[in-house]
Amino acid sequence: MLIAVDGPAASGKGTIARALADHFGLPHMDTGALYRAVALKLWRWGGDPSSEFEALRACEDLGVNPDDPELRSEPVGKIASAISAYPSVRAALLDRQREFAAQYGGAVLDGRDIGTVIAPDADAKLYVTASPEVRAQRRVRELMGRGLPAHYADVLLDLKVRDERDSGRDNAPLKQAPDAVLLDTSDLDREAAVAAAIRLVEDRLRAAGKVDAANRET
Ligand code: CDP
Repeated sequence: MLIAVDGPAASGKGTIARALADHFGLPHMDTGALYRAVALKLWRWGGDPSSEFEALRACEDLGVNPDDPELRSEPVGKIASAISAYPSVRAALLDRQREFAAQYGGAVLDGRDIGTVIAPDADAKLYVTASPEVRAQRRVRELMGRGLPAHYADVLLDLKVRDERDSGRDNAPLKQAPDAVLLDTSDLDREAAVAAAIRLVEDRLRAAGKVDAANRET
């Protein structure tokens, strides 16, 4: 069973994707971490994010350490958003994501273009969103919780800029796939959002005749 979860920054898609993976017993890939890992490598080299060539070099022999505290930092997120617009960078990261999606038994992937480009044949697709203000509040809490500096107005502005860049790029822009189900988490806490996501995926799978009520593939 293959589940695609897409959406803008701090919409809750990562939390939801991890919870879906737990619930259905599937492996999970946070594809944003790949773009962040490229960005972090470039940043540590002192490379230039406005150079597609340098960004592409940073994709070579890419290791992703999900526990690196700087991976989730705002400067790295900004660079990730910039370098993810380069076609060559997206192409360099494509096989890794497609292979993960194609593994036996299925997977959950979250990102911006999972339902549209990486796994257009996914069994269930969710597009998770929330208002920019709610997302900015969440991101501030997340950053402060990790002891990182965060200022609401700056974070809100940054999210809006990032939304625009992610949705406006020519290559694999952030957009809801026509067959994705929309989940707005603006008024939902974590538990409610996860419960709604599980219900939506189960409904979708049941409608397609792919799963029974006990979540077993048929
Ligand atoms: O959680 P947040 O949205 O801040 O970041 P993320 O999901 O870790 O992604 C970081 C950046 O990578 C995003 O701003 C996107 O520009 C880019 N990205 C992408 O282009 N395609 C993906 N499948 C995942 C992330």
